[in-house]
Amino acid sequence: MLTSIKTNSFEGNKSKELGMMYFRVAIILFGAQLVMGLIAATQFLVPGFLFELFDFSVARMVHINALVVWMLYAMIGSVYYMLPDETGVETVGVGLGKLGFWVLTVAVTIVVLVYIFVQVGAGTEASIWLIHEGREYIEAPRWADIGIVVVVLLFYWNVFASYMKGKQTGIMTVMVANLLALAGLYVAGMFFTDNISMDQFWWWWVIHLWVEATWEVFVGTLAAFALIRLIGAKREIVEMWLWIEVLMLFGSGILGMGHHYFWIGTPEYWWEIGALFSALEPVPLIAMFVHVLYDWGKEQGISEAKGKAKTVVTNSPAMAWIVTNAFGNFLGAGIWGFFHTLPQVNIYTHGSQFTAAHGHLAFFGAYATILIGMMYMGIQGAYGVKIMKMTFKSKMGIFLVTFGVMGMTIALTVAGYEQVLVERAELGATWNAFFVAQELPWYVQAQLWRAIMGVMTFVGFIYLVWDLLTIGSLAKDQERNS
Ligand code: HEM
Ligand code: HEM
Ligand SMILES: [Fe+2]
Repeated sequence: MLTSIKTNSFEGNKSKELGMMYFRVAIILFGAQLVMGLIAATQFLVPGFLFELFDFSVARMVHINALVVWMLYAMIGSVYYMLPDETGVETVGVGLGKLGFWVLTVAVTIVVLVYIFVQVGAGTEASIWLIHEGREYIEAPRWADIGIVVVVLLFYWNVFASYMKGKQTGIMTVMVANLLALAGLYVAGMFFTDNISMDQFWWWWVIHLWVEATWEVFVGTLAAFALIRLIGAKREIVEMWLWIEVLMLFGSGILGMGHHYFWIGTPEYWWEIGALFSALEPVPLIAMFVHVLYDWGKEQGISEAKGKAKTVVTNSPAMAWIVTNAFGNFLGAGIWGFFHTLPQVNIYTHGSQFTAAHGHLAFFGAYATILIGMMYMGIQGAYGVKIMKMTFKSKMGIFLVTFGVMGMTIALTVAGYEQVLVERAELGATWNAFFVAQELPWYVQAQLWRAIMGVMTFVGFIYLVWDLLTIGSLAKDQERNS
């Protein structure tokens, strides 16, 4: 991946080069995210670990902020990568895109250094502007917020202007409309109010309406694009699925936000609204699952019927990650989300390790997977190879990362179950009950298993990076020799 910019075969396609720049930062931040997760997981087992040097609150904050930021980088990278293919024209303002990239990267670096060096202190008006805003997942201080808005406007202009200039495919139409909603929602998380209910109310507009509406639609467009490229799926079929998914995702996701309004001081009618609409949210995820597997099976069948080569897949590591996405999205968001989405259940599970189990599998299954798939597509393009096959490293990467995250999820589900039973049901969710539950063997063992599975994930990540760095030139050599 490092050399891919120099030895690229994009034939002067600057937009794709720009996409690769974003991918590179994304994978570095992904690594940073995992290291922070390992530190935080160790602190669950050995509470004094790095105390007052690198506190749990900071490790956790950097862990989840890096998560969001690397995904946004990979999303922007994916858009710049697919834009010329979909529109048929070169992206309009590549120079502006590069400027945006550097401004964003410098800002992210400064923000992370400030998080790490200023770990504790009073929360004041100045700290909101300069240090962080204290809103989980989107903690960037206000100066950086404003910078992010400017960079995103540049990005959006680039996408919109290229779309207007080139072909307007269904995929790009959904992309352009959805990106406007995705970017616009960020603004809802920028205003500070000292009423905690109001603050949470708006904060969920960003978090929930990102991951359960706009980001889901975004990955729908990526899957549609990727299936056309990877297995030659028919555009009409893929785009038909995409429109169905958009309808269902927005139909359930927008009011599904009620599942976060159960206990924050909002009116009680949110119980019914949240219960009904969020219970419908898994439906589009099944549609996405069917979409990927159906198209794959169909194309494979057509190719076999014609007596052609057995597989139609042009980039098997990318395809493997996209199929993992179909399963992971359905399991992590759909099943693990549904488990605790009814108010009758959520009153016991709210904010327990169960939530963390769902958070891990959903973010990984729905987003990390397909974005990694897009990185593999980027590498294939950078080396200009027609067929890119899985290597041993690709297999180790996907296997260890996926099973590691699955293992962490199961461990956290056990911990959450114990919390629900002992802390919430038996002991009545008192202050003392929390500490009793934290010390019982099931909880402690579950945390140990989470750490072990976290190490497995990290080893898988190393294989993944190693593969991304080498698979392109390997495929190129194979192509030359055949
Ligand atoms: C890819 C999509 C999704 C992602 C990335 C995701 C991620 C998350 C995360 C990280 C949290 C914890 C937020 C916090 O820190 O407080 C959360 C909470 C929650 N999610 Fe999801 N989620 C997704 C989809 C879903 C779906 C489809 C459902 C329901 C069917 C669902 C139901 C819930 C509920 C009920 C909570 C609140 C848990 C609590 O009360 O503690 N999620 N989600
Ligand atoms: C090396 C592997 C990892 C380890 C050891 C790890 C560990 C942790 C720890 C200790 C927390 C804090 C939990 C708490 O406050 O109770 C956390 C939170 C979180 N992690 Fe990870 N993590 C890892 C990988 C990942 C991956 C791959 C993702 C998603 C792609 C992810 C997404 C999250 C999310 C969304 C939260 C917030 C959950 C919530 O508040 O409900 N982590 N992680
Ligand atoms: Fe939600």
